[in-house]
Amino acid sequence: MAFEPKRPQKTYTYDDVRLFTDEELKNYTAEEEKNFKIKHDIPLLEKLESGPWPSFVADAKRYALRRRKLGEEGKLLISPDVVEDLLGQVELSFVHGETHWKHGGIVGVIGYGGGVIGRYSDLAAKYPGVAHFHTVRVAQVPSKFYNTAFLRGLADLWEYRGSGMLNLHGSTGDIILLGTFTEQLEPLFQELTQVLDVDLGGSGSNLRTPECCLGKARCQYALYDTQEMCYEMTMHYQDELHRPAFPYKFKFKFDGCPNGCVASIARADLSFIGTWCDDIRIDQDAVQGYINGEFPPGGGSHSGKDWGKFDIYAEVIDRCPTGCMSLEGGELVIDNPNCTRCMHCINTMPRALRPGVETGVSLLFGAKAPILEGAQMSVLVIPFMKAEPPYDNVKEMINKMFEWWMDEGKNRERLGETIQRVGLQRFCDIMGLPPAPQMVKEPRTNPYIFWKEEDVPGGFERDINDYRSRHAR
Ligand code: HEM
Ligand code: HEM
Ligand code: SF4
Ligand code: SF4
Repeated sequence: MAFEPKRPQKTYTYDDVRLFTDEELKNYTAEEEKNFKIKHDIPLLEKLESGPWPSFVADAKRYALRRRKLGEEGKLLISPDVVEDLLGQVELSFVHGETHWKHGGIVGVIGYGGGVIGRYSDLAAKYPGVAHFHTVRVAQVPSKFYNTAFLRGLADLWEYRGSGMLNLHGSTGDIILLGTFTEQLEPLFQELTQVLDVDLGGSGSNLRTPECCLGKARCQYALYDTQEMCYEMTMHYQDELHRPAFPYKFKFKFDGCPNGCVASIARADLSFIGTWCDDIRIDQDAVQGYINGEFPPGGGSHSGKDWGKFDIYAEVIDRCPTGCMSLEGGELVIDNPNCTRCMHCINTMPRALRPGVETGVSLLFGAKAPILEGAQMSVLVIPFMKAEPPYDNVKEMINKMFEWWMDEGKNRERLGETIQRVGLQRFCDIMGLPPAPQMVKEPRTNPYIFWKEEDVPGGFERDINDYRSRHAR
């Protein structure tokens, strides 16, 4: 499906938005770089440069030189010393073993409650370049496809109005612009939105910028259009994104399949994970191909070392977490109702196995990193929903959850903690969901799950000979 923007999109070239000339962008020689010293002594930080990896200290020093020269030409709106003062203050924090950033302080742009995170130095007299060091979150586009005109324009703008240092991408997913002064925020916001046509992301007790995996843009496994859904939810929940009205932060993340490339299950208060509700498609000839060594397992991702002959038991059947696969008369058999959609067999034999064709999303609620109660993964609450625009079925669930959490959640309590406090059962009641075995971590071994006979395929009677044929004594 072709992309349909919900508002007119701007197109521009780098020449339309650039602020510096080519000469200004390359304004020092290798000789100058070698002889350059920043204005503070930073022996501890310089130790970091000696390691085997590229060092942010070396990068920052090089950049400090460039900034100093741009500053001499009057081309910068905040102190040219910001990078040097930053390194100086960080060095001192290493010596003192404590931070010199003051926390908090409300700064922002008009109309938005989030997107800017205030930060001030408590050593402003000594390091005036970082007296203010506010962070600006810029919304990433779904799957992070950019063009160079945007990236170069953004780098120019940030150099001009900020520290020039940025981070693609922070753990929120946003582009993080590190360090500027309060008076730059409003003009920066104007230029980001009106010239570069990009929005601020979320921060504070609001919806954070939704994030998705590459999805159908590049990945054969995508079970729904993650980018489309991420974009739709971002546009639909604009108020929640920009106006903090929640008990605490809230994150949506969209994984196209259970491989979980954006790790939504660990990182999102509401994780969307692509899934299917019919049977795994099997190409028996290709299964034989793998057994005969015609195709490299895992798409060749572990080649380069001799792992020996492919063994379908060791690598696939015995690794199925629910033990629902078998080889019968040379044919691969999958007991689909017992498959938990872990993707392992499909990842290992992608030519032979494909997910089903009835695809949609699972909704899992409540993941978070430790703040109050410790790290927690999100818990499967809705095993399957259709994921088709305009996603009214999904929005209905989200709205129900938001409404409840905004009433029930305590200040700085993540959704997962609220659920923990009141109980998952109560949460399911609120969402209008009957309890299901899929919500239980180990339904097969938990003696407190009571199955009704009609819920069990084949009922309670089983063919003991069939059972024994698969479980030799
Ligand atoms: C101060 C000492 C003890 C305390 C505070 C204590 C406390 C408890 C508690 C709170 C339960 C759960 C009850 C329930 O939820 O039904 C329990 C169960 C149990 N305790 Fe203790 N207990 C103590 C000593 C012992 C000792 C010394 C034994 C055995 C020699 C023992 C054997 C058991 C058993 C077998 C159960 C399981 C009962 C069942 O599942 O119905 N307890 N205990
Ligand atoms: C030949 C010896 C034994 C036999 C045949 C036997 C049999 C059983 C049976 C049939 C149950 C009920 C299981 C159920 O309801 O699911 C049971 C429960 C229990 N037995 Fe034994 N038992 C034996 C020895 C022992 C010994 C030596 C102990 C303790 C030292 C013990 C402690 C318990 C406890 C605590 C339970 C309750 C478990 C629970 O409900 O959580 N049993 N036993
Ligand atoms: S989560 Fe699944 S669909 Fe998305 S990029 Fe990863 S493997 Fe592909
Ligand atoms: S997807 Fe996972 S649970 Fe399902 S059959 Fe394959 S290995 Fe087993």
